[in-house]
Amino acid sequence: MAKLQSLFSMRHLLVLSLALNVSLILRMMYDSQLDLFFYKYPRQGQISNLHPQNKPRLLISSSFSNSSSSTCEDHHQPPPKNNNRVINLDHGDPRVYEAFWRETGEKTTIKIAGWQSMSYFSDVSNVCWFLEPEFAEEVVRLHRVVGNAVTEDRHLVVGTGSSQLFLAALYALSPTNSPQPISVVSASPYYSSYPSMTDYQKSGLYKWGGDADKFDISGPYIELVTSPNNPDGFVRRSVLNRSEGLLVHDLAYYWPQYTPISSPSNHDLTLFTLSKTTGHAGMRIGWALVKDKEVAKKMTKFIELNTIGVSKDSQLRAAKVLRAVSDSCKLQGGGESFFQFSHKIMTDRWKQLREAVQRSNGFFSVPTFSPSFCTFFNQNLVPHPAFVWLKCEKNVEDCESFLRGYNILTRSGTHFGVSQQYVRISMLDTDENFMHFLHRLSTINFR
Ligand SMILES: Cc1ncc(COP(=O)(O)O)c(C=O)c1O
Repeated sequence: MAKLQSLFSMRHLLVLSLALNVSLILRMMYDSQLDLFFYKYPRQGQISNLHPQNKPRLLISSSFSNSSSSTCEDHHQPPPKNNNRVINLDHGDPRVYEAFWRETGEKTTIKIAGWQSMSYFSDVSNVCWFLEPEFAEEVVRLHRVVGNAVTEDRHLVVGTGSSQLFLAALYALSPTNSPQPISVVSASPYYSSYPSMTDYQKSGLYKWGGDADKFDISGPYIELVTSPNNPDGFVRRSVLNRSEGLLVHDLAYYWPQYTPISSPSNHDLTLFTLSKTTGHAGMRIGWALVKDKEVAKKMTKFIELNTIGVSKDSQLRAAKVLRAVSDSCKLQGGGESFFQFSHKIMTDRWKQLREAVQRSNGFFSVPTFSPSFCTFFNQNLVPHPAFVWLKCEKNVEDCESFLRGYNILTRSGTHFGVSQQYVRISMLDTDENFMHFLHRLSTINFR
């Protein structure tokens, strides 16, 4: 002891105690910061100890919490082992194409000097006065290259995502002199955001009217037609076909990686979004092709009142990305186009998913699709939707809770106007998360 005392003087002990206290304080600060960040969203690992019934619905997306260097080769990595990790496939966050954009490198990098993009205005001669001509040009060019939309005799309206354009369309199509709000309907299963986006402001102009197949009120209405459909991936047409109906076609997924392109779409009002076309959801850019000038003017007015236009920086960046996609389709000999790349990934993911579903011996089922001719790829192809519309077939009433018990977060059919036997699962997450998901499915005991 005397020896020890001589080794550690009082000064040594004080320094040691100070160091321990500092590290303890730093640890506490670190933990409290994390707890602030994870206030609503438990950390991975925390969740796995909860009983399925008590697990919160919203959790941090594992795709955000794990850096992923996504490459095509990742598909062939051995299956991951960590069964406690929460796999969040509730959202359709399109991280799947990151590898392509990483490869593209400088070609899609843009530099905007401090003095640029300063004015509110882009082109005052255009109905949509905040539309950047460069962006408009690339949208038209890409539709021509892909052959998925008629752009002649159309007004182009840009929006902060197609979500803003959706609201602009409801505003523009609603009658102003009606004593009752116009009903907004869509055939179930419908995109889960439509009801809440329609009703959250309790507008006096329009209100959610539910499943179009069950809509029996006479008079005008707005029908939302999503094709291919989110969540189930099927090609759709209007189901009501009444003379007083106004149609909004949401063609977010009418691109060759998801569905065969049959012909150029040719509707009164069509919505597209960069989020699902190229995966750049964070840029928040969407566009509408509008036949009627007055409708385009009213949509523009809505965006003017809402956000006084749309970010010019985003439009310029979007133009560059769209140009890279069109250029990649024109590459002569060698070089994979964006759609070849994305189509290959979706094909591969769906193949692996179907194999996993088959191994469940009828416990799960997914939709089957017939092949049809794709004018873009010039061959017969089957769709590879952005979401899996999965059904729990046996003795499981609530498929979302069942999968949550395995730390797989999905979105229940109830959000899409159908039974909780269904869930929607994103096929657009990172390779890493997708591999974890497949592996997790393989750990489910189906007896
Ligand atoms: C059918 C459909 N429409 C619109 C959107 C919204 O797109 P944006 O990111 O452009 O707002 C989504 C997003 O998931 C969608 O699935």
